[in-house]
Amino acid sequence: MTGATAVAGTNIALVKYWGKRDEALNLPATGSLSLTLDRLGTRTRVVFDGGAGGGDAVTLDGAPAGAKFAARASAFLDRVRARAGLAARATVETANSVPTAAGLASSASGFAALALAATRAAGLELSPDELSELARLGSGSAARSIFGGFVEMARGARADGRDAVAHPLAAGTSWEVRLVVAITAAGEKTIGSTAAMSRTGATSLYYDAWVRSVDGDLAAARAAIGARDLPALGAIAERSALRMHASAMAADPPILYWNPATLAAIATVRALRERGTAAFFTIDAGPHVKVLCAAADADHVAAALSDTAGVLRTLVAAPGPGARVVEAA
Ligand code: PMV
Repeated sequence: MTGATAVAGTNIALVKYWGKRDEALNLPATGSLSLTLDRLGTRTRVVFDGGAGGGDAVTLDGAPAGAKFAARASAFLDRVRARAGLAARATVETANSVPTAAGLASSASGFAALALAATRAAGLELSPDELSELARLGSGSAARSIFGGFVEMARGARADGRDAVAHPLAAGTSWEVRLVVAITAAGEKTIGSTAAMSRTGATSLYYDAWVRSVDGDLAAARAAIGARDLPALGAIAERSALRMHASAMAADPPILYWNPATLAAIATVRALRERGTAAFFTIDAGPHVKVLCAAADADHVAAALSDTAGVLRTLVAAPGPGARVVEAA
């Protein structure tokens, strides 16, 4: 019986993905661009050992996973089994170093680690492109966590999704930036990204405008990364996040992920900037605020965010590598 353990870092989008052109294949309506992180991520072990009770045995952070999580993992494993011609159920042990489903992108690192561990455990050796495509089927943002550093995800044009994969932006390597995460609430987010994207696409008056805005932001972000221009990249990240949230807020019923501490953290970032620190926020499908800054400013930025009303704690993460196998036996 062979098993494999893989780790993947989560990633935070600086040009957001918000909307699908195909829900079944998780094909994005637009490209996106992100930074893969080092400390925040997922470690997953998969063994096709028959599982338990006729199904896959899935544990999350040391305890049996909830039904929804386990079903999503099993559906993903079914794709790997089909590809490998394997029938055996599996034991899956997964542990997150970020709170699950709180808008801290645990699904990105989760499906990247699961894609790599499960394919290796099944005896498959996928190329990075194939892994990115497979991870995307679990969660759109997971396609980006296959690669390290700054990563661009292609919208793709094909109906089968073969070209909707991520690739690393070489220009981003060895840029000393940090992402400071300000956690502003405990517990799970109010509405998952898939349901929220679908509602935004179907009902938001601003959705088409959002989609039209992304290509320009992608081109500008690529240029800013190439030039190591933090203020330029930060300005793009802020406007992409605000436009994404604006499109969600304009859905019916409206989707509002923020809480008072989210706004307080935004105010802190703006105040830091007024005092001369280059710090820029982004916000995903949750109330937390992630702040891009230079490595040398990270402690100062984290301290200011920690002092912000309603911020529960802060984490500092650096750019990290792509998904990798850490144990294969
Ligand atoms: O990968 P999903 O389906 O959880 O969607 C991620 C959506 C955002 O995190 C809000 C934006 C992004 O590009 O990661």
